[in-house]
Amino acid sequence: MPEAVRVIAVASGKGGVGKTKVSINLAAALAQTGQQVMLMDADLGLANVDVLLGLEPAFDLQHVISGEKSLDEIIVKGPLGISCHSGKFWCRAYGRANLGRACKFNLSI
Ligand SMILES: Nc1ncnc2c1ncn2[C@@H]1O[C@H](COP(=O)(O)OP(=O)(O)O)[C@@H](O)[C@H]1O
Ligand SMILES: [Mg+2]
Repeated sequence: MPEAVRVIAVASGKGGVGKTKVSINLAAALAQTGQQVMLMDADLGLANVDVLLGLEPAFDLQHVISGEKSLDEIIVKGPLGISCHSGKFWCRAYGRANLGRACKFNLSI
């Protein structure tokens, strides 16, 4: 039987509060205990996990969203063997990830 995958989401309604730093440090700590770790930066506007890990991925989540690549195809190996999916700095799909005022209003009522 395959082992269960544990997912930890680090999220916030605001940018610049330390999500990436926390995620990278958590991923590194888990990897150091011998666990297989995959880090996905799902930020489609200001993703920076690749920058902080010194990676230069050729493909990112934008290519998955557009259907050009699968999730498996955009994985790059980072430090400590951490597998990474990169988000995007200024994604073409940014508009889809950032709801307009009317949408937010409709969701809040
Ligand atoms: N615990 C912390 N103490 C001081 N500065 C921090 C801390 N965590 C993050 N930062 C700094 O805050 C900024 C934003 O962090 P980041 O992890 O990229 O935020 P987010 O992913 O939420 O946008 C970076 O310059 C980072 O170095
Ligand atoms: Mg971030």
